This record gives sequence, C-alpha cells and structure tokens, in this order.
Amino acid sequence: MDQQIAKIITGGEYLVDEPLSRHTTWGIGGPADVFVRPANRRELTGLLQFASENQIPVTVLGSGSNCLVSDTGVRGIVISLAGTLKSIHLDNGDVRAEAGVMLGHLVRRCLQAGLTGMENLIGVPGTLGGALMMNAGAFGEEISSHLVKVLVLNLEGEEKSYLRDDIQFGYRSSSIPPDEIILEAEFHFEAGSRPEILERYKQVSIQRRARQPLRQRSAGSVFKNPASGLSAGKLIDQAGLKGTRRGDAEISTQHGNFFINHGTAMADDIAFLIKLAARTIKQQFDLQLELEIRTLGFEPGFWEDAGLA
Ligand code: EPU
Repeated sequence: MDQQIAKIITGGEYLVDEPLSRHTTWGIGGPADVFVRPANRRELTGLLQFASENQIPVTVLGSGSNCLVSDTGVRGIVISLAGTLKSIHLDNGDVRAEAGVMLGHLVRRCLQAGLTGMENLIGVPGTLGGALMMNAGAFGEEISSHLVKVLVLNLEGEEKSYLRDDIQFGYRSSSIPPDEIILEAEFHFEAGSRPEILERYKQVSIQRRARQPLRQRSAGSVFKNPASGLSAGKLIDQAGLKGTRRGDAEISTQHGNFFINHGTAMADDIAFLIKLAARTIKQQFDLQLELEIRTLGFEPGFWEDAGLA
C-alpha cells in the first residue's frame, strides 16, 4: 500500500504508523496505519479512488480539535486536511473558503474586511470543514447561518455541491453525509460597523476565557447540551464531578463539560470519565447525555454501557 500511496502523494506527505496523538488537541490517540496530508485536491481525489478500489477504510480528520481517538488507533488511511486546502477569496460580502482553513483565521479575515456574522465564533477551534460537518456554534451564532453553498467529494472521488437549503442543520448537527468530504464553502455576509464588530469580538473572547479552560489540552465541550435547554457543564458541576481524575485525565475544575489531559492521559482514561459523567447524570437527573465529540477507533458497542452512541 505504501508504495502505491507514494505514487499518488508526490507533493504532500504520508507517514506510516503515525501516532494520532500528534494530531489531536487532546494529544491522545494511537497510530493510523497510514496518515496522509494531500497537497491539493488532485492528490486527495487520487487517494480516495485508490482507497475505494482497494477497499481500504478512510477517515478524514480536520485539525483534531473535537476527536477522541482510541489508544489502539485507526486502521486504514487517515487523511488530514489541516494545513492543506487553505485558500480564502473575499469579494465584497461573498466569501469562498476551502475546508482546511482554520475557523479562527476565517473569522479574523471577515473582521478585517468589516463583514459581520462570524464574530461570535472567535475562539471556536478547528477547520472550516469540521465546523460545517457539526454546525459549530457559540454565543447564539452558528457556522451555517450565512452559508450559501458547499462543495463536497464522495469516497469515490466525485464532486457534488449542495445549496444551503439542501442541507438540514440542527444544534451541532448537519445532514451532510459523514462519508463525504467538504472541499470548500461559500458564504454571504453583510457589511457592518468595524468598531462594533471588534467590540463584540473582544467581548466574546473575554467571556470565553473567563468560562473555559483554554490553556489546557481539551476537545472543547465533550457533551451536547441536552435538548431541554440545560447545560451539560452545569449538570456535571451540580453532580459534584468537577475535578474527578483518572491518571492524567480530569474533568475540568473550571467548566464541567471540558475534560483535560494534564500530560500523559490515555484515551481509556478520558473514556472512563466520559462514561462516569454520562451514567451519573442519568442516575441523578434522569437525563441521557449525548457526545458532542467524535470518537474514532473504538470497538463497536464500546460506549453502549453508558448509553452513548
Ligand atoms: N455552568 C456551571 N458550571 C460549569 C459550567 C457551566 O454552572 O461547570 C453554568 C454557567 O455558569 C452558565 C451555564 O452553565 O450559566 C452555561 O454555561 P456556558 O455559558 O459555559 O455555556 P455552555 O452551554 O456550557 C455552550 C457551548 C460552547 C460555547 C458556549 C458559549 C455546547 C455543548 N457548548 O457552552 O461550545 O462556547 O456555549 O456560547 O453547546 C463547544 O461546542 O465545544 C463549545 C465550547
């Protein structure tokens, strides 16, 4: 497999048995059989066609900011789009950006151009592609709000586009099939008052710093907030679980929905705390929490004993 991949990936890079802990914000995760960073769309398409013809499983990773990768890692090919597919074009209020663009970078470009609509998303980690897949949001704003169109690639390497209304976006969810890879997205933003946008941006940054443990290794919110409008972090706090540790993994003392790796935590440690929190919330409040993070490389059924998919 390696030699065939070497023929396709000539400008990008590929690494064999690459620890995914190097590619997740948690700093956790076993190896990918092959980890590939394609240099461009041509390499990405070639790689997908090769994998499809040879029935090799493919997993796409953005910047790994919302993923728990198991300690045994991920079989097949893991494609990283962070650091690749990074172009942004601004034409008045029309903005086209590729999927590997970091969301924070896109927010700042909009801010510099005096475009309003993205400022509440400052501080949301991850790539644009990942943000669209899960309809990332913060402070009442979602990435889908100003979306016009999305261009995707399927696992056979064929391109297809969706208009905004072709996609159902919900709270931290989208109907974009998980086996499609977002290549680029188009947005339309209104022109706004730059001082006002900047002020909002500053306020959001201050609030985020005050509430969330941004200096420690985490994956942002682990659980979705329950549909009833309750906060998962507050429930975990009320259950007295903040500060619970297993090895180097800890439920943050600052925000109950952030789970921290203090250094050498394993996926197994984080998973233990996640299950503990889900079971405790079920027992104490009769509420079943759902994961917000994406889990990769776990055995089928691994999460079932805590009611998690
Ligand atoms: N709270 C507590 N104890 C805690 C945590 C929170 O009492 O340990 C209370 C807070 O005081 C507040 C309420 O719970 O009254 C809600 O907390 P917060 O404002 O921190 O918001 P959240 O619902 O926990 C959501 C998003 C965040 C987003 C913020 C700001 C989810 C799961 N989380 O957090 O998104 O940044 O609102 O809009 O929807 C993410 O998705 O990764 C993420 C960080």
